[in-house]
Amino acid sequence: MTSPDNHAAKHEGRYPPGSAAFPHRGLLGIAGLENHQLLFLLDEAEQWVALNRQSHKRAEHLAGLTIINAFFENSTRTLLSFEIAGKRLGADVVNMHAAQSSVKKGETLIDTAMTLNAMRADAIVIRHASSGAVRLIADKVDCPVLNAGDGRHEHPTQALLDALTLRHALRARGGSGEIAGLTVTICGDILHSRVARSNILALTTLGAEVRVCAPPALMPAEVEAMGVTAFHDFDAALAGADVVMMLRLQAERMQGQFIPSPREYRHLYGLTLERLARARPGCLVMHPGPMNRGVEIDSNVADLVGTSLITAQVEMGVAIRMACLEVLTRRARGVAGWEPDWAPDWAPDRAGASA
Ligand code: NCD
Repeated sequence: MTSPDNHAAKHEGRYPPGSAAFPHRGLLGIAGLENHQLLFLLDEAEQWVALNRQSHKRAEHLAGLTIINAFFENSTRTLLSFEIAGKRLGADVVNMHAAQSSVKKGETLIDTAMTLNAMRADAIVIRHASSGAVRLIADKVDCPVLNAGDGRHEHPTQALLDALTLRHALRARGGSGEIAGLTVTICGDILHSRVARSNILALTTLGAEVRVCAPPALMPAEVEAMGVTAFHDFDAALAGADVVMMLRLQAERMQGQFIPSPREYRHLYGLTLERLARARPGCLVMHPGPMNRGVEIDSNVADLVGTSLITAQVEMGVAIRMACLEVLTRRARGVAGWEPDWAPDWAPDRAGASA
């Protein structure tokens, strides 16, 4: 296993030394992160991919630290992934579910934040149904905050784990693992998807050509301003694609009728084997889960060995979350080069804190 210091030496020149490599207090989104900062987190995750493939999956970097996973919205894989990540780094991990918390008794988000802060957590991971709620909490607490999905805004660790999954899949095929130059088609409920938003930001920053495809009602109005090409015709969006990322219809965020019927939706936007054949040969298939098999993706595509990366995405999720937790707690742990007064945006007033 590589220690943070060896690691920095190994990648000398790829990004600035010490905390300048990732000068942010928390991870609230991909917006505002630079190419080399994304690469830094991806590179950091490699040691955790290796550790997680051993039978003894335990490091002690975060021993004695307390991580609170505050999930105000339902989640299975993301919560489990963050919990496993914290535990594998030796931290004490506590999960707070909104259903059991005072939120149900009407406590304001700010009061909840103050309570979490008073417990002296060393990192707080938050999922919330409202866009912007994570930032609101981050502004009130003293420790790093990681966004595990806020409304339709961002889901940064999902975009990072998707990039790490792609890198590994491309390397397994003998390539360099470079995301730059790939054509990635993201298809589904772009309008309500924080996964789409974070992935558009990450993939374009990493140099991929990104296409988004959705029925008109599920396409955000100004999406092309994000540097992507918008399609309503899935076959056209697939032509020449190296990767296709399918998204679930976010029914919980829809008010009113956005699609005629699941059957009609599958007909136009479902990924079937026949449709996949329109993409570039060897096109990789991704889905963040949970999947609606037979709606946005057919089972024979989702389970296609060598093509579907869906289980690899889950594996890479743990490694990415370990990397984020380890990097973001370096200042508090006094890791050399990561002293609190070193990073430019680590000021008491938090001016310029991470986006
Ligand atoms: C996504 C989410 O919650 O935003 N899932 C996840 O994190 N595994 C996507 C979704 O719910 O469709």
